[in-house]
Amino acid sequence: MSPYYRATGREEEVFLAAYAERLPVLLKGPTGCGKSRFVEAMGHKLAREVITVACNDETSAADLLGRWLVRGGDTVWQDGPVTRAVREGAILYLDEVAEAREDVIVVLHPLTDHRRELFVDRHAEQLQAPPEFQLVASFNPGYRRGPKELKPSTRQRFVGIDFTYPEPSVEAEIVAREVGIDAAVAKRLVVLARKVRSLSELGLAETVSTRLLVNAGRLIRADVPPRVACVHAVVAPLTDDPEIAEALRDVVHLVF
Ligand SMILES: Nc1ncnc2c1ncn2[C@@H]1O[C@H](COP(=O)(O)OP(=O)(O)OP(=O)(O)O)[C@@H](O)[C@H]1O
Ligand SMILES: [Mg+2]
Repeated sequence: MSPYYRATGREEEVFLAAYAERLPVLLKGPTGCGKSRFVEAMGHKLAREVITVACNDETSAADLLGRWLVRGGDTVWQDGPVTRAVREGAILYLDEVAEAREDVIVVLHPLTDHRRELFVDRHAEQLQAPPEFQLVASFNPGYRRGPKELKPSTRQRFVGIDFTYPEPSVEAEIVAREVGIDAAVAKRLVVLARKVRSLSELGLAETVSTRLLVNAGRLIRADVPPRVACVHAVVAPLTDDPEIAEALRDVVHLVF
């Protein structure tokens, strides 16, 4: 079954063209706005496996490329996810690529330009990516966790697709369809989201995402009263600050 993905712009057309042209793609946008779902849907459409790697500052080149393991008395080579994706012609999804260390990103560079090569030094192997291989990375420009930015020399290798929260009617459609709840309840959840998103004075690091609305919808579908559902699925994940939580609960009570 195809993963449910509701297009909100020309992202599918651009992605498929980039795939055909063998250009890597960078998905930009806040948490929970459909980036991963989009990649799954594209993988399904193109009949390619999606191999996801969550990048962080402890990820090493060996984690991505592979390493020698001792098994019994032998050492055996085990491909890392990047090597496997190149070998198998999969869609490689590097989630939160800006979190990766510079030495890791440098290893990926030859894969992102016309060379489409991967040098697996520990295995003394130079791999040429097959035409089916696609590199996709995600990047959340909103994070304020230190000076994490992608260098221009990295960014400029990618075709960029911006993700934002969809317009209200589309977001309500997504929530209703994803959860299987009433359109009216989904619409209310979106009203709540839009009110909170407009409150920039709350100083939230990240605001209400479609994911949080889906989670609230799930609790409601499981018979949790809407106010309670929103406090647990929307307010609690957004803040630990009692005053901000209070302000958010007030918004919930206004809407439900
Ligand atoms: N356009 C969409 N079509 C279908 N479902 C969507 C869409 N946008 C968001 N969703 C819903 O929101 C949830 C979160 O989306 P997803 O996991 O793709 O977010 P993300 O952008 O990858 O977030 P993160 O940056 O935290 O990884 C999905 O599981 C899905 O339920
Ligand atoms: Mg994701």
